[in-house]
Amino acid sequence: MVKWFIFGKPLHTGAVTAVDVKESDRELLKNYLEWEETDGGLCFSCRMKKKDAVYGLGENVRGINKRGWIYESNCSDDPFHREDKRSLYGAHNFIILAGEDRQFGLFIDHAGKLVFDIGYTETDRLAVTAPDRDVSLYVLEGESLTDIVGGLRRLTGRSYIPPKWAFGYGQSRWSYMTADEVRRVAKEHRERGIPLDSIYLDIDYMERYKDFTVNGDSFPGFGKFVEEMRGQGIHLVPIIDAGVKIEEGYDVYEEGVAGNYFCKTQDGRNFTAGVWPGRVHFPDMLKEEARKWFGGKYKVLLDEGIEGFWNDMNEPAIFYSEEHLQEVWEQMEDYRGKNLDINSFFALKDLITGISNNEGDYQRFYHEYEGETIRHDKVHNLFGFYMTRAAGEAFDRLCPDKRILMYSRSSYIGMHRYGGIWMGDNLSWWSHILLNIRMLPSLNMCGFLYTGADLGGFGADVTEDMLLRWLEFGIFTPLMRNHSAMGTRRQEVYRFGDTEAFRRIIGLRYGLLPYIYSEYMKAALGDNMYAKPLSFLYPGDERAKEVEDQLMIGESIMVAPVYEQNKTGRYVYLPETMKMIRFRSLTDREEQVLPAGDHYVKIPLDEVVVFLRPDHILPIAEKGGQNVEEVDFENLTLLHFTQTQSEYEYYHDDGYTKDYDNPAHRTMLRAGC
Ligand code: GLC
Repeated sequence: MVKWFIFGKPLHTGAVTAVDVKESDRELLKNYLEWEETDGGLCFSCRMKKKDAVYGLGENVRGINKRGWIYESNCSDDPFHREDKRSLYGAHNFIILAGEDRQFGLFIDHAGKLVFDIGYTETDRLAVTAPDRDVSLYVLEGESLTDIVGGLRRLTGRSYIPPKWAFGYGQSRWSYMTADEVRRVAKEHRERGIPLDSIYLDIDYMERYKDFTVNGDSFPGFGKFVEEMRGQGIHLVPIIDAGVKIEEGYDVYEEGVAGNYFCKTQDGRNFTAGVWPGRVHFPDMLKEEARKWFGGKYKVLLDEGIEGFWNDMNEPAIFYSEEHLQEVWEQMEDYRGKNLDINSFFALKDLITGISNNEGDYQRFYHEYEGETIRHDKVHNLFGFYMTRAAGEAFDRLCPDKRILMYSRSSYIGMHRYGGIWMGDNLSWWSHILLNIRMLPSLNMCGFLYTGADLGGFGADVTEDMLLRWLEFGIFTPLMRNHSAMGTRRQEVYRFGDTEAFRRIIGLRYGLLPYIYSEYMKAALGDNMYAKPLSFLYPGDERAKEVEDQLMIGESIMVAPVYEQNKTGRYVYLPETMKMIRFRSLTDREEQVLPAGDHYVKIPLDEVVVFLRPDHILPIAEKGGQNVEEVDFENLTLLHFTQTQSEYEYYHDDGYTKDYDNPAHRTMLRAGC
């Protein structure tokens, strides 16, 4: 059940695909929210009761229950985010108020910066403020919280489905400088029997950081190299950045200028920003012809045998703009030679740290969108969405029957149809493991099912135990990629002492793949969530509502990752009697039935524990593999906890074509007496 309310003349964002939704009488909105005009904008609000929880907001800081903080939707590049941050890389304007006596979802379809004050200013008030009075909002109701999430998906479209190999383990690092270095990474994994399906190529594969080029000196004979890696069962996945380098003779730049495809300044020049290659122009992803053109460029790499990409820096991140930098140089002169005191020194410091991703810069360029010229800040949150849409639409044109891996850093609801996202730059901090655990269900609520964190942490130095713990959570995330930044401690798993533990943990992922893939597909095709907070499945359970560090993964299991250092166990809350399955490896397992309630569970550093629900089945492969192709998805072991007989609907297809809805992919598995 969805109700649509329109204020003013909202911009069409492209998030909503449903065609049968009609505008509702505004009087009806009063059953859910009040609204008032603020300084230039609109504020929607309601009171919250003591026990009301608020879910959603996808990729953002803090808990699964979002109460008690103020958040923003404003796609921002911040690799050092802490818990006092308000917005991260994505803008996911969907919340669910799960109240004592009412529950409803709210999707505010607005491309500019929104503020969600969820009990921050007043502890019992929820207030969403838009910067202008042109707002489209949808109220969604349902029997259950999962139903409300389903309503959002029916409104905004089916979630993206990647190829099956993209559920394998991926190794990434910013600074694989040559093909030989990549070969070595592959070899080290293969020699130790550590499964691997993909190696990521970060900006270093390009020629001078130019999109859709390959550095011929360090990656000679690229097509052959891609083939060689495929021969070892490994996919190479190159990065694509939002900015196009300004360089005479570079075809993408020249075509962009000739075709008028770049974002413009107010006086009609191509807007210049600084990113990795130095000066770049941003393709106007919102302009249809430009999007078609940019999307078509992925063909350059598809033709070399590439089958997956990651889109980056598409908030868009801006290191500097030419204009602002000029202003900074001039202002810096004022400080030269002065005695810098508390005020002037910090002002100087702010001037410098404010160069990057400067709010003012987002007001310096314009898009052409549906026949209108629009200043960037008004559509800021759509940029990453439309870049990824460019790619997704191009893949549909160029290889309509094949699944191509695509995920993006920046996103907006609606983008979930074209690709997944990774959880952005994080740090090798224990607190970021917990943050990423909490993001997973929140992202699922907003349609982003194909997602995962930079395992091990992107910035800062990882430790062996942290990497193990992060991977032990990562084996349950659809995207499972180890990624780290240039200059940090090397983070490939073979760099550490206990390679055997890493081999077993990653190997376990491959054994669990029949379940993980099946659950993913059922969630995507059924407009459901793959990972859920406990409260979504046990709505009457007050304790379950407070659990912020355990998740339901698919329909059969609960996980409770360890995310603290020097811990060999943790407390786990069981909302019902469950069977604890301890995996030392895929085949070395131990089972024990535990009653509902609190338990202290030993979880040594190299073991994974899952909790199986009663009358449910966990199908696992009898044989894992070195890559997804080797996994046996047909001969399964059915781990079960059944008093009578249980059934499990198993989804299994070739994983590469798009015949998703064929009923032949679904079979009933049965276990028990
Ligand atoms: C950005 C990305 C990161 C990547 C780096 C270099 O920070 O988020 O994943 O490694 O750029 O391309």
